[in-house]
Amino acid sequence: MARVVFLGVYVTDLAFWSDRLPRIGETVVGQDFRMGPGGKGSNQAVAAARAGAAVTLLTKLGTDTFGDVATHVYQMEGIDHRHIIRTDDETTGAAFIMVHPDTGENAIIVSTGSGGAITVAEVDGWAEAIAQADLFVTNLEVPVPAVLRGLELARSAGVPTVLNPAPAVALPEAIYPLVDHFTPNETEAEALSGLPVGHEVEAVAAARLFRDRGIGHALLTLGEAGALLVGPDDEPVLIPPVSAGKVIDTTGAGDAFTGAYAVGLSEGLAAAAAARFACAAAGISVTRVGTAPSTANRAEIDRLLGRG
Ligand code: RIB
Repeated sequence: MARVVFLGVYVTDLAFWSDRLPRIGETVVGQDFRMGPGGKGSNQAVAAARAGAAVTLLTKLGTDTFGDVATHVYQMEGIDHRHIIRTDDETTGAAFIMVHPDTGENAIIVSTGSGGAITVAEVDGWAEAIAQADLFVTNLEVPVPAVLRGLELARSAGVPTVLNPAPAVALPEAIYPLVDHFTPNETEAEALSGLPVGHEVEAVAAARLFRDRGIGHALLTLGEAGALLVGPDDEPVLIPPVSAGKVIDTTGAGDAFTGAYAVGLSEGLAAAAAARFACAAAGISVTRVGTAPSTANRAEIDRLLGRG
């Protein structure tokens, strides 16, 4: 089984169902509340483990209850958590999530806590784990200098890389040539390219701009429109969405997508086929409540793709 190593952040998700956000000074009564495991890198690791990879997560947790919950999740999901750092210096983070009860759309404020304080020296300490990976995946909840170091270590060990640029933050130009697969959503693609990404033609222009900066495969997720891939042959490929039923909660769908895409790549699929596998995983996740808890297992994904 291929091993995928994720460098990412765990936070505890505090999700509130409400049809609108409060204004400053206002209290809005919500319709429901759930607490569960979150953080983009952690969600992606859970999604990949459920979709069939051997997964290692590299992160930093506080020595607190949220950190203990995270460790328990990794034990339950069969994720290698031996390299996780526990610290007294910062607390484990949390996210406020608003979910719209009718559309399932979400808005998030994340405070990344201990995971957001991962240092370059700590990433250097994970060099051996990164070098042993079949694929290395990271995202931008991790501080950019640590992301850059992780990508450099993977590249120098010949390990292919995936960067999910979420949330979008300014990136040094030096990062792009280290990325074999880049998976922004529309908002992130707009922020990082400076171009509008409202429809397929615009998405192709943004993807080509990322390719010009040195990215191997630019794979833009387009919500209900599926995903758009531009790889080394420069030919745009539109991957249609895969519906698994009514959309309940879109939170974490991008993480389900990136985690499953990583599994497909690690199993040797071409990028377009891995993206189709990822669209199915994301299609299932939006039919369920939560982030990591909503991710699909391998049998469910295969069944939806008619392989089960
Ligand atoms: O991508 C969804 C995730 O973003 C949530 O789990 C939340 O924790 C934030 O990190």
